Amino acid sequence: MVHTDAWWRDAVIYQVYPRSFADSDGDGMGDLPGITGRLHHLKELGIDAVWLSPFYPSPQHDAGYDVADYRGVDPRFGALGDADKLIAEAHGLGIKVIVDLVPNHTSNEHEWFRAALAAGPGSPERERYIFRSGDQPPNSWKSVFGGSAWERLPDGDWYLHLFDVSQPDLNWDNPEVRAEFLDVLRFWLDRGVDGFRVDVAHGLVKEANLTDWTTASTILGGLDPAGPPPPMWDQEGVHEIYRSWRKVLDEYPGGRILVAEAWVAPASRLARYVRPDEMHQAFNFPYLDAPWKPAELRAVIDETLAANNEVGATTTWVLSNHDVVRHASRLGFPAGTPRMPGIGAEDPQPDSALGLRRARAATLLMLGLPGSAYLYQGEELGLPEHTTMPDEFREDPAWERSGHAERGRDGCRVPLPWEADAPSYGFGPADASWLPQPATWAEYALDRQQGVPGSTWELYRSALELRREHGLGSGSVVWQDGGFAFRNGDVLVLTNFGPDAVALPAGARVLLSSEPLDGDGRVPTDVTVWAAL
Ligand code: GLC
Repeated sequence: MVHTDAWWRDAVIYQVYPRSFADSDGDGMGDLPGITGRLHHLKELGIDAVWLSPFYPSPQHDAGYDVADYRGVDPRFGALGDADKLIAEAHGLGIKVIVDLVPNHTSNEHEWFRAALAAGPGSPERERYIFRSGDQPPNSWKSVFGGSAWERLPDGDWYLHLFDVSQPDLNWDNPEVRAEFLDVLRFWLDRGVDGFRVDVAHGLVKEANLTDWTTASTILGGLDPAGPPPPMWDQEGVHEIYRSWRKVLDEYPGGRILVAEAWVAPASRLARYVRPDEMHQAFNFPYLDAPWKPAELRAVIDETLAANNEVGATTTWVLSNHDVVRHASRLGFPAGTPRMPGIGAEDPQPDSALGLRRARAATLLMLGLPGSAYLYQGEELGLPEHTTMPDEFREDPAWERSGHAERGRDGCRVPLPWEADAPSYGFGPADASWLPQPATWAEYALDRQQGVPGSTWELYRSALELRREHGLGSGSVVWQDGGFAFRNGDVLVLTNFGPDAVALPAGARVLLSSEPLDGDGRVPTDVTVWAAL
């Protein structure tokens, strides 16, 4: 029987970054029991599902995106029973659970890679990865995190790692690799997960002859739609893999989903990942990267809606995640400033009041759009990036591998503040946190915002409630004349990007607004309003 429960088409999915959500045992590192203990807050917030970044056994060279065992839980985060408990409790609250799947590479501590090292050149064990012999690196590919994408072993062989040296790329031409991941999917589906966020979904298949490519492999910065297609990304062969996965998911009841992390442009190319027999959703990174400018935003919205309509898929929206500077800080730079790979104390600093004001307006705009929206933990608190973290705390491999050219992603991964006056702001029972929390974070703590009219938490909560009530997720965008405004069902969504306050249409009844309106009931600059028509 084929199951087609489409809960995900308009779902709001909240990304939990397990290292930094909540720490139950006071070791300064978040864990699964910590997440379970705070799920009721997410219920109160009104989300439909959580996506958990990796919690599998891992040496943590890339914060868990270097997986040593796909069927377990790292002792830092708990045990398999804690994952079962989290899934059960989330389901009890009506929250779906999506887990992260990392199929492009394993950790160098995975048993397959250990076996490949031990077995030596030419062995079938090395066929599970991309090994080549020779005096020189097999080609000019660069690692996404900086430096060469090839590492040489003492026995003379080279192996490919598009990311850190501790993340060897798997060989997806090998049937053993394909079979293994089908089995991993079943392992977690049998435990009740509702889907998988597929890491680097556009990278699994490499062009057969590994053609040279001298451009830096900046996937996290997006691809150049005008340039030639890179030989390591978005190869035709990836689609057949996802078709085979989709068949497995469709055997399970309840609508289990695949969501692609694919930095692919243009939108029509990305939409190929969400054709009816492939994945269900793909992250809309062009939307995340769009500048705070009305014409550009409108173009991305139209383009992505059209491209997804073409294949019958739902569109997703996202503003923040664990790989990018948080939008409350990104938007505190002049509109159009290119997204930077991390911010340090010596870098230009964002205007935090402007950033938060625009972030709240941006979120209300996003949640007014039809489709599915992804939230990143902490944005519901208006949390900024840690932009002055001392460099000695940085753990992102990009910092070292780029020769300190890129500060990396630690600034968006700082443990959450829950209670203003508790040690580690209530992140855990001890005053411990794996990355330092800024001294100014008390004001962002959840307990300072719950029940406080106008707080960012209350703004998100009200928005999610109204979004559901008015069916915005399953609606449509009908642009209105003059200014940046669209109708979605019976709701008008208006954002004022201009310098002067603007009036709402006569008879419009304000449902929610990202900041107070002015004394004449007009919408000030950098404010989004939802109004009933
Ligand atoms: C994805 C993840 C990122 C990770 C990389 C390598 O882009 O989101 O955090 O570093 O893949 O797995």
